[in-house]
Amino acid sequence: MITYNESERIFKLDTPNTSYIFGIDDKFGYLMHYYYGRKLRNAKDNIRYLSRLYDGDVLPEVNTKDKNSFLDFAPFEYSTGGIGDYRSHALEILLENGTTAAELKYLSHRITKGKSVHEGLPGTFAKEGEAENLEVTLTDPEIGLTVELFYAVFADTDCIVRSAKIYNEGQTPIYLTRVMSTTLNLDNKDYNLLTLHGSWARERHKEFRKIGHGYQGVSSRRGESGHQEHPFMAITDRNLTETTGEVYGFNFIYSGNFTAEVSLDQFNLIHAEMGINPYNFKWKLEPGDSFTAPEAVMTYSFNGLGDMTRSFHSLYRNHLIRSPFLHMKRPILINNWEATYFDFDTDKLLAIAKEAASVGIEMLVMDDGWFGNRYDDNRALGDWIVNEEKIKGGLKFLVDEVNKLGLKFGIWMEPEMISPDSDLYRAHPDWAIQIPGRNPGLSRNQLVLDITRPEVWEHTWNSIKTILESANIEYLKWDMNRQLAELYSAGLPADRQGELYHRYVLALYRMQEKLVETFPNLLIENCSGGGARFDPGMLYYSPQIWTSDDTDAIERLSIQEGTAMIYPLSTMGAHVSDCPNHAVGRVTPFKTRGHVALAGTFGYELDITKIPVEERAQIPFQVAQYHKYNDLVREGNYYRLASFSDNGEYDAWMVVSQDGTEALVTYVDVFKHPNVKSRRLLLQGLDASKEYKDAESGKIYGGDTLMYAGYPLPGTWGDFKSTLIHLELC
Ligand code: DGJ
Repeated sequence: MITYNESERIFKLDTPNTSYIFGIDDKFGYLMHYYYGRKLRNAKDNIRYLSRLYDGDVLPEVNTKDKNSFLDFAPFEYSTGGIGDYRSHALEILLENGTTAAELKYLSHRITKGKSVHEGLPGTFAKEGEAENLEVTLTDPEIGLTVELFYAVFADTDCIVRSAKIYNEGQTPIYLTRVMSTTLNLDNKDYNLLTLHGSWARERHKEFRKIGHGYQGVSSRRGESGHQEHPFMAITDRNLTETTGEVYGFNFIYSGNFTAEVSLDQFNLIHAEMGINPYNFKWKLEPGDSFTAPEAVMTYSFNGLGDMTRSFHSLYRNHLIRSPFLHMKRPILINNWEATYFDFDTDKLLAIAKEAASVGIEMLVMDDGWFGNRYDDNRALGDWIVNEEKIKGGLKFLVDEVNKLGLKFGIWMEPEMISPDSDLYRAHPDWAIQIPGRNPGLSRNQLVLDITRPEVWEHTWNSIKTILESANIEYLKWDMNRQLAELYSAGLPADRQGELYHRYVLALYRMQEKLVETFPNLLIENCSGGGARFDPGMLYYSPQIWTSDDTDAIERLSIQEGTAMIYPLSTMGAHVSDCPNHAVGRVTPFKTRGHVALAGTFGYELDITKIPVEERAQIPFQVAQYHKYNDLVREGNYYRLASFSDNGEYDAWMVVSQDGTEALVTYVDVFKHPNVKSRRLLLQGLDASKEYKDAESGKIYGGDTLMYAGYPLPGTWGDFKSTLIHLELC
């Protein structure tokens, strides 16, 4: 999969359908990128012409002094600042003498079997025989700077994973001010940039824009990946479809500040970068120290957006998500948040649990409001002591009673937070991230705990552990409801305050790792005010993440489309909730709410003791559908068929089992129009040479007919109607 051509000094990384090629320039020893795209055979052509360094008058051979005549367009594999490349760089540094120049040249490399692991960071992994690893070492001996570039290639997916480790091998400190995890140089082919944008309750909506001259991209400065922009971008053909066109996808395995940028330069060359956001980032490397950049994933496809999606899904299912629950049907849960908000007690919860048990729901999740003085969201975060006025008889009593009803029990916590009105804050005001002497700005009336400080981390971890050990708790929803601001840590000297954002993420990862290690059978669902930390970093620790606080089935179409563009359906927390919907006031059929939630982890978020009897009566049927289809939804290959956010009328997707024997299509006819002919849906992923039986009607269709002529969708009456179509191979 990875080869090094000794005479040409070229590295070639092959995935099943793509090649990524770079090499060592023979004049200066720079690492130059040559190619990323469709797989190339190992021809004898001298591919180095692709760097354009040998084009006419810019030849470095004749131009050694006038370096910036070529440095400014050279396709550096990992560029540095201060030497005449005026674009943004993979690595920028600051020395104690105030200078910023660094110049990296090839030193050595190593190709190994397997996949390297970076301690303390989430990342991809591989079993024996599944991956190969390349490490290329670059150095600037004048300042004692050494960089190791890591590349991993997997046998079963068209993804390449990159990261970098920076060493200070000099005598004086080096400050890192910009460290990218991956970069890519491409010729522009009138490409578009695809990104995901949003807000609270509107996460991950897709957006295309033409790549123009200058810089464009997405980022977060919020201390988490965020609702607003997503650590993902794709460079795509202008005429991209689900099944045709080129697409280069990038995704960052990180949960903090990120930047994902492309620039189009004076020569119409594209330069793409992804890494930790340089905003407020200044990392001090003492002599002998090193810094590891988180992993970034790149994938290329010439078969459209759907292919990119399935490459990410396959990488994350096989090489990122570690949870033993990944391949298991998750218990169908009922969460009391939208049912009761803060107004609940043991009796109310048991009434919900009793009713839930009678219709086949398998777990009760007690959400926010069970601890300290938490009667509303103005107080008590940090006081992780059960409020026995509400939870009469205590937590163990409640859990035991729920278990007696045949249900598992899950709990909500927001460990990273502290309310100014809390016993914890009264005892340790300095534990919150805030600037001494400044009145801190609150968000949802809370502050963020400085878990980078060992004593705060220990206290927080012990609070989680104590609660989880106090009863038979089988699920944890780990929430995080405010973003970081007014950064200052009492635990860091002035010249290291620029490390706080990243140190915070590392401390969070350490705590999640400890959680996974200590409670291996706990099902964890990460969450951040809905889906503000739905990223591959968090998926390394939890197999599912709460997708959005917007549970409206129609809003969810775009949110789940954007999320599933990168992440497997098995990772998307999705619940059936009450109507009018609490986020938008819309009334949709209970059946449609069920069909949309079936595309995720599936559960309920309503007061089952109060919903209309006709709706309650549908739950056993929905539960049966979940049991029937979840293996297929969780493990199958996902295809987007129609996008409501594109066409404004209807949405459809399907999953096909890995062995191709069955498929499930979900069709949501959002708006009904009068006097229209029936719609035919072009399916994907079937075997054109085989026949399929429509389980509902018993009709037989050829795979080719279904994919090329289309499935005849049933007419609907009224808005927001949906249908499931189950196809079985004959
Ligand atoms: C935000 C979450 O996304 C909700 O589901 C709920 O848990 C609330 N926080 C509780 O405060």
